[in-house]
Amino acid sequence: MSDGTTSILVTGAGGQLGSRLRACAESRPNVTFIGLGLEALDVCDRAAVFEAVATHRPDVVIHAAAYTAVDRAESEEPLAHEVNATAVRHVADACNDAGIPMVHISTDYVFGDVPRRPLQPTDPTGPVGAYGRTKLAGEEAFMASGVNGALVRAAWLYDAEGHNFMNTMLRLAQTHGALRVVDDQHGCPTAVPVLADALLDMALRGADMPQGVWHFAHEGHTTWHGFAKEIMRVAGWDVPVEPVGTAAFPSPAQRPAWSVLDGGPLCEQMGWQRCTWEDALAQVWALKEAGG
Ligand SMILES: NC(=O)c1ccc[n+]([C@@H]2O[C@H](COP(=O)([O-])OP(=O)(O)OC[C@H]3O[C@@H](n4cnc5c(N)ncnc54)[C@H](OP(=O)(O)O)[C@@H]3O)[C@@H](O)[C@H]2O)c1
Repeated sequence: MSDGTTSILVTGAGGQLGSRLRACAESRPNVTFIGLGLEALDVCDRAAVFEAVATHRPDVVIHAAAYTAVDRAESEEPLAHEVNATAVRHVADACNDAGIPMVHISTDYVFGDVPRRPLQPTDPTGPVGAYGRTKLAGEEAFMASGVNGALVRAAWLYDAEGHNFMNTMLRLAQTHGALRVVDDQHGCPTAVPVLADALLDMALRGADMPQGVWHFAHEGHTTWHGFAKEIMRVAGWDVPVEPVGTAAFPSPAQRPAWSVLDGGPLCEQMGWQRCTWEDALAQVWALKEAGG
């Protein structure tokens, strides 16, 4: 921008990641943040997407809008596909048209039957449900567009506020006094404040950001059960957490059993200090205690 800042347009700005991107951007004087929530920009409206980019003339777009209702997607796959795939092409084409780069966010749900080791971007995909299929189609749309930019897969997002696993566990612990949590799905909980800062770092590199598909993840991995136990420990609550199998909680959508992404290469590429998922949780907890 003419004032020397980098202007970053964020779609889905009212969501979990979009809200945190806004908060993180506020502490960066070199960023002009243009956050467009669903009410300001429906990314399924191709003309509106082109108009938003032409009007705001951002230096870069972070595409955080998505259909994220994993279970509902099983019965609404066409709608999920429109948001998670067709609209990605609209945003990518608009960025291409304006000659600006794009950061796109995807998910571990594009994987299915995988080897039990930290997953690389080159590992074969194979979603086990509708949400994952639509997000994979979105990845294909991003790659096919030829847009300059990065596609960042992340997993198990949570933040200090909002509807997420951590806050659900805290609520259930208070109302039930005990928890039953699945211990046969493995992943790495991702602190949205750390992810959001990382995405801003990437966006600030503009056209020089790492190109293609990358994985963002903290160090280490656990199960939902392990994550719940650590949340109770950090909260200082003596609440029993019983391990149970996925079958104990039947749901419309199947979830991947192994969601451990290898975040090492992106960290190395960007020169970030990588922290463990437990340290990241401590950071989120500190934010929560400070009021979000
Ligand atoms: N949450 C996770 O655990 C997780 C894990 C891995 C990857 N991801 C990916 O991370 C990204 C951000 O997810 P999140 O956790 O921030 O999800 P979120 O809280 O559901 O945010 C997505 C936002 O997109 C909005 N949206 C939906 N349809 C739209 C449309 N047609 N036009 C514009 N905005 C629209 C939603 O609005 P409404 O809420 O009003 O529908 C919501 O505000 C997504 O790409 C997601 O696939 C998430």
